Amino acid sequence: MTTALADFAASLPKAELHLHIEGSLEPELMFALAERNKVAIPFASVEEVRAAYQFSRLQDFLDIYYQGAQVLREEDDFRDLATAYFDRAAADNVVHAEIFFDPQTHTDRGIPFATVLNGLNAGMIEAEKKHGLTSKLILCFLRHLDEEAAFQTLKAAEPFLDRIAGVGLDSSELGHPPEKFARVFAAAGTMGLKRVAHAGEEGPPDYVHQALDILEIDRLDHGNRALEDSQLTTRLAREAMTLTVCPLSNLKLCVVDHIDAHPMKRMLDAGLRATVNSDDPAYFGGYVNDNYRALAGTGQLSREDFVTLARNSFLGSFLPDEAIARHLAALAAHVAAA
Ligand code: ADE
Ligand code: ZN
Repeated sequence: MTTALADFAASLPKAELHLHIEGSLEPELMFALAERNKVAIPFASVEEVRAAYQFSRLQDFLDIYYQGAQVLREEDDFRDLATAYFDRAAADNVVHAEIFFDPQTHTDRGIPFATVLNGLNAGMIEAEKKHGLTSKLILCFLRHLDEEAAFQTLKAAEPFLDRIAGVGLDSSELGHPPEKFARVFAAAGTMGLKRVAHAGEEGPPDYVHQALDILEIDRLDHGNRALEDSQLTTRLAREAMTLTVCPLSNLKLCVVDHIDAHPMKRMLDAGLRATVNSDDPAYFGGYVNDNYRALAGTGQLSREDFVTLARNSFLGSFLPDEAIARHLAALAAHVAAA
């Protein structure tokens, strides 16, 4: 029964809205790029890398994630990274993806913004040709760095704005509240960019309030801790705010103790527009369908819940209304035939 439900969930056409492209760097590619670029990495084997992926909080993961990203140097590296992700996503029936990239992780090492952008863009174009998978880019500011650095990054992005859909906020949440980036988010809004932010992953419900009221976000990344505040939960539901939830990430980063304790069912029952995403699949044990399957394994979600989650992934995307309508119709046809 559970397997049939997991297979059904996996078969659904879906969008992925919370994916850090640097977090899709598999150890095999990390090793290949380390060799290609003559970058030293502190691991002797792929197995050793995987064994190091034991985290008890977000910062444990971030330390190793930024270290891994050092092997990315050339345009082709970023293209190969993107292509590997899109091939994997297409196999999971992802038909549209809105992916994060962290330019500061690269520009701070002397890699030009254009190298990152052009490489990722080449992978995006290839994915559309090869799989019909469309995608958008979201530039994330690293919140452990200061406002001035975020402004410099926004400036570096200016020549490429036709290829960037929005800005986001990621990295160490605790101690770096959304209000720290109020002015740079306001500037991004003026430039016509969409705005999203990680909030309520480890941070308190107040950070979600700040993301809504001060950053004026269009979408909330994670948002788990919003459930601690019933008025906030009601508001998110009323405003049809999309939450990009990442079950296996939550498990690996100890946001939840066990997958059966994941709040996805509670989120749906509260009327939240929740979606399922993989966050950093190379580090957290799976791509988007591994996340759908993990939820199916809890026995808490119904077939209708999974259809809702797939529907929400399109409704929460930054695609134009006609494209959303097309994807919803294809999803409905798929469900009717399943
Ligand atoms: N950067 C990559 N993954 C992240 C996450 N889950 N939270 C915050 N920053 C991140
Ligand atoms: Zn994330």
